[in-house]
Amino acid sequence: MKYKRFAYLFVGLGVIVVIWKLSVLETSVSNLKTLPQALDLHKDQLELTQRQLMIFEQIHKKTNYFRNYPVIYAVTPTYWRHVQKAELTRISQTLQLVPNVHWIVVEDSDYKTDLVRNLLTESDLIYTHLNAKTPPFEKLKDKDPRWKRHRGVEQRNTALKWLRENLKLGKDKGVVYFMDDDNTYNVRVFQEMNKIKTVGVWPVGLVGGLNAETPVLDKKTGKVMGYRSGWRPDRPFAIDMAGFAINLDLILSRTDAVFSYKMEKGYQESEFLSYFTTKEQLEPLADNCTKVYVWHTRTEKPVVNGIVPGLEV
Ligand SMILES: *[C@@H]1O[C@H](CO)[C@@H](O)[C@H](O)[C@H]1NC(C)=O
Repeated sequence: MKYKRFAYLFVGLGVIVVIWKLSVLETSVSNLKTLPQALDLHKDQLELTQRQLMIFEQIHKKTNYFRNYPVIYAVTPTYWRHVQKAELTRISQTLQLVPNVHWIVVEDSDYKTDLVRNLLTESDLIYTHLNAKTPPFEKLKDKDPRWKRHRGVEQRNTALKWLRENLKLGKDKGVVYFMDDDNTYNVRVFQEMNKIKTVGVWPVGLVGGLNAETPVLDKKTGKVMGYRSGWRPDRPFAIDMAGFAINLDLILSRTDAVFSYKMEKGYQESEFLSYFTTKEQLEPLADNCTKVYVWHTRTEKPVVNGIVPGLEV
């Protein structure tokens, strides 16, 4: 009889302890919401300096930013040439300023090179490193002006395949942007991408023989009604690769949408976009396409007559 009473007491105590533990856990979880305030309150016990508090606050802000914005999957095809490391360094340091970016770098190569691998490892970015060699039948056309239109086909398709194999429709929230390694990007172009619901478009500077190419908007409706473009403005989407980004849901649901060697010259962007949207549905960004946040810059090919051994340049 006595034992039974003890047992009840024991179980009762156990339940009380569990409830108390849970309540403590609950409190600490709710405290996490105001981590900077909590730290500020206890800064003396924790021996935190004002600067350390500011750093915590900064991290807290960035974490919230992450929570509320889509992941921008920036797809960069790249190939070896003397300026490769310089270009990738410039791009990677632009991306350091974009907290919600995931960089997908695809080398035109049979293997992943040390140069790109080292650059990515040291970048502190969230990245995926891939490679896909452009087939030789395309390489042969190097002198052919049509060669230009096929650059990046293999690499962009490899990135699309990776996205479709590794991300889940409806679960992963994101935007896909084709970010060539030679252009110049204002970080604001990435902030614009956060607003995209389907396909967002904006002007691109220094392209097609114009100071900028841009979608032309209807003053009344604010919709895209045409394009200012140096070449074939009558294309369904006369937009440079740097002038649009696509919601990840669309990329993941239209699995047949890929770049192709069969696409007509200069129609890569236009044909790819027609899988996902219509001109009327485009979302004009960058203050109704009045701001230029990306430029089609071209780095001059340097004269290199000698190689210093032992230096990765
Ligand atoms: C863009 O244009 C639309 C309609 O023409 C207008 O309502 C809107 O305020 C404009 N937005 C900006 C950022 O200028």
